[in-house]
Amino acid sequence: MRIAFGNLKVSKEAKKYLEDCVKTSKVSGGEKVKLLEESWGKLFGYKYNIAMSSGTAADMAALMTLYDTASKGNYDKVLPGDEVIAPALAFAAVGNSIRAAGFTPKFVDVKRDTMNINTDLIEEKITPKTRAIMAVHTMGKPCEMDKITNIAQQYGLRIIEDCCESHGGKYKDKFLGTFGDAAAFSYYVAHIVSCGDGGMLSTNSKQIRDITDSVKHHGRKPGSLYFDHLRYGLNFRMNDLTASIGIPEIQNFWEIFEKRKDNLIYLTQATKDLEDVAYFVQEEPHEVVSPHAFSITLKDPKHNYAKLYEFLESKGIQCKRNFGSMPTQHGAFEYLGYKKGEFPEAEYIGDNGLHFGIHQFLTKKDLDYASKKLHEYFGGE
Ligand SMILES: Cc1ncc(COP(=O)(O)O)c(C=O)c1O
Repeated sequence: MRIAFGNLKVSKEAKKYLEDCVKTSKVSGGEKVKLLEESWGKLFGYKYNIAMSSGTAADMAALMTLYDTASKGNYDKVLPGDEVIAPALAFAAVGNSIRAAGFTPKFVDVKRDTMNINTDLIEEKITPKTRAIMAVHTMGKPCEMDKITNIAQQYGLRIIEDCCESHGGKYKDKFLGTFGDAAAFSYYVAHIVSCGDGGMLSTNSKQIRDITDSVKHHGRKPGSLYFDHLRYGLNFRMNDLTASIGIPEIQNFWEIFEKRKDNLIYLTQATKDLEDVAYFVQEEPHEVVSPHAFSITLKDPKHNYAKLYEFLESKGIQCKRNFGSMPTQHGAFEYLGYKKGEFPEAEYIGDNGLHFGIHQFLTKKDLDYASKKLHEYFGGE
């Protein structure tokens, strides 16, 4: 593939950390994981940072921690079937994590142009069983956090931010991940920070940190190696080999971020004349969009998403669908009985949108090539 979705190059510094692990045979939960957590916290000012085996693990740990804190009488008791509000369109990890943590996802349609949750539709989905809102900043575009925060305050709900696609993004001068009770990040290979597979849960709450420390470790007493399990948990731990790859990525974060951002801006400008045929991610004055990928949602289905996908792939540009509607276009939530047509915007984007990489290893030549192929497609239909 000429333009792969993402790419990982293990740096010289990472190799030194890896050699150190091999020499000392210290691989499990040691100093590299600690250094990764500290480096991440310093970068954005998150107080507590807990490394995870993936972004999905971070989402699950945040939700399981919420389940645990709530059911210990911290506020209302949580019962099986209690609900978490989530956007209908997002990577499937979002809905799957809610289900895995014991909650029922309550899906809300998204906006076609931003792909984020439509905040005007949240309140009508809130019931006495609702416990939290999951704010997913899809494609690096910040959600409307003022509105989400107001709704959460009004109804006594927690907020979990899924920042897996939005490292370093900002809403009104504040980093994403600082608005909610906890934030989940993914260090998957195509993301701004990559360990291959890995993640982070960041929070400013000591209580959430303490419970997450236990949840990520089968519910053990934090720091204990004995089999004294205080609560429900799973294994979400990151190891030192993975952390070794991620530390230099975090230390060079802004360099990587700026390179990707330049790429995103360059390609957005090069395709400006295609704005009448497709929605692209737009950055507004109050925000900083994190450069996750280059997204295209067709404004008219006549431009044929399947043909566009096939065309770009045949030209060496690796494409990903714009996720699809979790409740009505994927199998995991059939049990909830939603019907096609209930989430028109999510379904439209799922049928008419794709994205591809703008990662830091792409050159201007690669981006010119991508722009040329897009023009060729739309000009030559
Ligand atoms: C919005 C969102 N949430 C969660 C995840 C899960 O992250 P991971 O692949 O590291 O498990 C992803 C992955 O891309 C994502 O895009």
